[in-house]
Amino acid sequence: MEKQLNEIKVEALQAIETVKDARDLSEIKVKFLGKAGLLTSILRGMKDVPAEDRPKIGNLVNQTRAEIEDAIAKVQSEIEEKELANKLASEKVDITEPAKDFKKGALHPITIVFNKLIDACKDMGFEVVQGPEVESDFYNFEQLNIPKNHPARDMQDSFYITEGTLLRTHTSPMQARVMEKTEPPIKIVVPGRVYRNDSDSTHSPVFHQMEGLVVDENVSMVDLKTMLNTLMIRLYGENTKVRFRPSYFPFTEPSVEVDVSCPNCDGKGCKTCKGTGYLEILGAGIVNPKVLENCGIDSTKYSGFAFGMGIERTAMVKYAIPDLRTMYKNDVRFLKQMK
Ligand code: PHE
Repeated sequence: MEKQLNEIKVEALQAIETVKDARDLSEIKVKFLGKAGLLTSILRGMKDVPAEDRPKIGNLVNQTRAEIEDAIAKVQSEIEEKELANKLASEKVDITEPAKDFKKGALHPITIVFNKLIDACKDMGFEVVQGPEVESDFYNFEQLNIPKNHPARDMQDSFYITEGTLLRTHTSPMQARVMEKTEPPIKIVVPGRVYRNDSDSTHSPVFHQMEGLVVDENVSMVDLKTMLNTLMIRLYGENTKVRFRPSYFPFTEPSVEVDVSCPNCDGKGCKTCKGTGYLEILGAGIVNPKVLENCGIDSTKYSGFAFGMGIERTAMVKYAIPDLRTMYKNDVRFLKQMK
C-alpha cells in the first residue's frame, strides 16, 4: 500500500507539472482527490490493513493528499496570474490617445428665440401660461372685440373645424381666458403655435407667437415701451433701438406696431431692412376697455397693455434668415449653423 501511495503521488505531481490551464488542473483534482478519485479508493481499502498499521498508513494518505493539494494550489495561482496578465495586456487602454470627436446637436432657432424671450420675461416677473390651439370663435374673436366682418373671420384666412371652432389665429385668445379667471394684477406671457391660411417666403400656415399681457392699476404706454425696450435689448443686444408706429387692432386702443433697429446694419440701412434701418417685429397696444369689460374687469379701475410677437419673424431678423420656410425643412446644414 505504501508503494501504491508513492506511485499515486509521483503520477499526480508529474501530471500537475505538465498542466496547461485551469481545466486540466481541475481534471487532475478530480482524478486524484475527488470522491471517486485514486486516494479515496485507497482509503476504502483501509479495512483490509491490519489494525496496528492503520495509523501509519492513515498518516501517509494524509501526507500524500497534502502534498498533492499543495502542488495543485501552487500551479493554480500561477495559472491565475498568467490569465490576469493576459487579460490586462489584451484590454490595455491608451489613455494618451486623443478623444473621438462626437457630434454636437444644436437647438432650433425657434426654440432658441423662445427660450431667450421667456427667460427675459420671467426675469421681469411674468408668469408663463399656455392655451388650446383648437379655439372657439368666442375667444379667438368675440371676446377680443374682433368684428364680424374682420378678414381673419373669413373662411379663406382661418382654418375652421366647425362653424364655431377653429385653429387659433393668434395667441391673443389667452388674454381673454386669463382675464376672465384672474383678479388683476395680471402679468403673463403665452408662447405657442398659431395657424393661418397663408404660405410664402415670410408666411407659414403654422407659426409661433408669444403673447404678453399686463393688467393692473395705472398701466400705461410708458410701461409697454419700457418693457419692450428691455426685452428687445435682451434679445438683440445693447444698442438696439425700439420704435413705435401707430396701428390698429380691435383689442387694443391705441395700438402700435413695433420696430427694432436692424441688427444686421445697426440701423444704418441695408438690404435686410430695405434701407429703412428698422424691422417690424410685433403688434401691441393698450388693452381696449371693451375687452376688459367683456372679461369682467372694471375698466375704470384697471388698465393694461398687450403685445403679440411672431417668433419666426423675430428669428429671421436675429439670424438673417431670408426664407421662413428653411426653418421647417429640417436640413441639418441649416440647423448646424445654430451651434
Ligand atoms: N394678435 C395680434 C396678431 O396676431 C398681435 C397683437 C397682440 C397685437 C396683442 C396687439 C396686442 O397680429
